[in-house]
Amino acid sequence: MTNSVLQSVSYANGVLKILDQTKIPNVTEFLEITKIEDAWDAIKQLKVRGAPAIGIAAAYGLLLGIKEAPETSFEEFYPFFKYQVDYLATSRPTAVNLFWALKRMDDRAKKEKEVQVSKIKEALENEAHLIRSEDEEVCRTIGEHALKLLKDGMGILTHCNAGGIATARYGTALAPLYLAKEQGWDIKVFADETRPLLQGARLTAWELMQAGIDVTLITDNMAAMVMQKGWVQAVIVGCDRVAANGDVANKIGTYGVALLAKAHNIPFYVAAPMSTIDLETKTGTDIPIEERDAAEITDGFGKRTAPEGVKVFNPAFDVTPHEYITAIITEKGILSGKYQEELPKLFQ
Ligand code: MRU
Repeated sequence: MTNSVLQSVSYANGVLKILDQTKIPNVTEFLEITKIEDAWDAIKQLKVRGAPAIGIAAAYGLLLGIKEAPETSFEEFYPFFKYQVDYLATSRPTAVNLFWALKRMDDRAKKEKEVQVSKIKEALENEAHLIRSEDEEVCRTIGEHALKLLKDGMGILTHCNAGGIATARYGTALAPLYLAKEQGWDIKVFADETRPLLQGARLTAWELMQAGIDVTLITDNMAAMVMQKGWVQAVIVGCDRVAANGDVANKIGTYGVALLAKAHNIPFYVAAPMSTIDLETKTGTDIPIEERDAAEITDGFGKRTAPEGVKVFNPAFDVTPHEYITAIITEKGILSGKYQEELPKLFQ
């Protein structure tokens, strides 16, 4: 699959390199991060964002945190290491990929406990690289599965950015669109602007335009009209956490899009790697929803757009109940409907 989108997270020689997604589309700038605190901050500030990319950045960020860890014994090393794991886990609460990646690193450290600490550090670096490279493979496979649900000539609406820069490569929701392009299909994508941080306008429109995919930017409140006009035949979004019953947390506004899709009889698809499925979280109401600074709403356009002192509610995500989701597409295939039964089977 051709996908020219820049690699948003990488690591070499003790340096975590991150495409600063807060600067796109105006400036393409890579941050070179050498301290765990700066990795934490990059996740918190959405310099690196999108559930899989957050997980990858956390795994690499952990390597920065253990550079100075004692190498005398596992007993000395492990508490130091675990402290850094717990620290990174406080950066953002909703995307389960963060906790999934940190747990994977923790499991690897414990598995290697009999070897020299310097070797444990090497093993952890390999694990972080694996988390990245596997995600690339996973996203490509999700794209192949998702393409089966789409057709040449379709209008497709997406919300937020679940593209190449939100993952190791290709993206989740955008992966089938790259494949469709490669097959010469004529698809028309509608990208919701995605208030308040404009991931749709700044990132999805930018990504798809670079790939030569026909994309039209709309503000979030235009989705209903675009559907009413008959321009959308499918909605596909990414997600931050799938609960055991198939409820899905994704960028704020996704639930509204799902309701609109239902009202217009348009299929609503969620693309999610296995690393985003959290069977420990029973339903959507159990998913922790991040609330962010009021200034993102009141001062988001480089000037004040609301009265001083106004009360603000700024949740970063909402939950779409499973009954609105036509199918969840993972690297293991397409689930359609009986999520409570189907999701655990994926892990068997
Ligand atoms: O706050 P963000 O920009 O990290 O939110 C990202 C999303 O909601 C994405 O849709 C999701 O993480 C999937 S990325 C493949």
